[in-house]
Amino acid sequence: MGVSRGEFSSRIGFIMAAAGSAVGLGNIWGFPTQTASNGGAAFVLVYLVLAFCLAYPAFMAEILIGRYGQANAVTSMQKMSRSIFQKRFAFVVGFGGIICAALILSFYGILAGWMMSFAVEPIALFMGAENVAEWVVGSTVGRNVLFTSIFMLLTVFIIRSGVENGIEKWSKRLMPMMIGLLILLIVYVMTLEGAAQGLNAYLNPDISRVLEPDLLLSALGQAFFSLSLGTSVMVIYGSYISKQENMVTIGAQVTLIDVSIAFLAGLLIIPSMYVAQAQGVQIFADDGSLIAGPALVFTVLPSLFEGMGTLGLFVGLAFFVLMSVAALTSSISMLEGPVSYLVERHEIERKTATTWTGIGILAISFVIIFNISFMLDFVATLATEYGQPIIAMLCCVFAGWIWQRNSLLEEIKLGYEEAESSLFWKIWPWYIKVVCPVAIAAVFIHSLL
Ligand code: PHE
Repeated sequence: MGVSRGEFSSRIGFIMAAAGSAVGLGNIWGFPTQTASNGGAAFVLVYLVLAFCLAYPAFMAEILIGRYGQANAVTSMQKMSRSIFQKRFAFVVGFGGIICAALILSFYGILAGWMMSFAVEPIALFMGAENVAEWVVGSTVGRNVLFTSIFMLLTVFIIRSGVENGIEKWSKRLMPMMIGLLILLIVYVMTLEGAAQGLNAYLNPDISRVLEPDLLLSALGQAFFSLSLGTSVMVIYGSYISKQENMVTIGAQVTLIDVSIAFLAGLLIIPSMYVAQAQGVQIFADDGSLIAGPALVFTVLPSLFEGMGTLGLFVGLAFFVLMSVAALTSSISMLEGPVSYLVERHEIERKTATTWTGIGILAISFVIIFNISFMLDFVATLATEYGQPIIAMLCCVFAGWIWQRNSLLEEIKLGYEEAESSLFWKIWPWYIKVVCPVAIAAVFIHSLL
């Protein structure tokens, strides 16, 4: 192969990079919006259960496959395949994930562009450029083309620099800042009128809704999207971890960070909705349904920031900058999937591969932008509701049925000497073999019927 591979230089570097991939618009925007439109606390409860019981084990399968294979998703899975048939299957699963990552990036870049444009708005307002401020938050094609392109340029820029100087360096700097701001904002919101009612809606579940098919499927999709599963991303990130690391704890830490940040974001957004309602902004229709829909974050938060006066301009700026940053640490992981494949399988130089993949994906973004009313939803549903769960399920099947059991156990033991006495050791191998695939398929079939 002849290409020297990168590696994360430290354990914390990997945790930050993987958490950076996991934490993104899905946590801070997707999760609260889904919670608000799916019965509040009942959704939160189901989400937590699915995240820990299904998404975490599937996540472990992907990072272990990657660390074993020390290569892109296709090569890693082919290394454990013995027959021609298995090798073909490996190709389908690995390449499917790569396509899925590229598709997600094509619409994710548009959404991230919105975040960036909302960060420009307060600057424009501060400088008295009202018309600019209006343009950047108006949903026009021109605005979308401009900000999606800027966002893609940043993503390409970081990935061109490789693992240690690109992915790791930036994730380590930016992630902690975001968590800090989130906590400050929550503390502030809690002092406002209406927050208590919001907390109740967020934390007090209506148990009777827990088994609703739509709620289950949304929660499953959300959990898989949030951990970046089924996209080859965690396989490739796993391949950059050193053989001395304990994967079981690292995996648990990343899952915990991801779920906690989604939970924190809900703690900010749901009470903010009720605060905005108390201030006269229409959030709910008379029948209690949400008026704002997916645009929730753009209705609720700006009105919250406005209530803070001039300070609100700065808070708004900080918030949307950090949202953009969270999106960036996710988008770089999506681009790394296809790029690592091209570099390792086709011996294309890293910088060239990155630039051309970026251009290709941006072209898809443009197609979506010019047909936004139906394409955005179509691509998002195709990739996240179908692509991700199916490919994640196939990764579990792969790790459970094709990967030789001894070799799989050996991989867990690397960096984890006491593995054999752990609960993980006893449960996980058959869990991903049987429970995960069956449960994922069941949720699927349940919702399709
Ligand atoms: N997990 C990211 C988020 O929550 C999105 C993502 C999906 C990243 C798939 C990589 C791959 O925003």
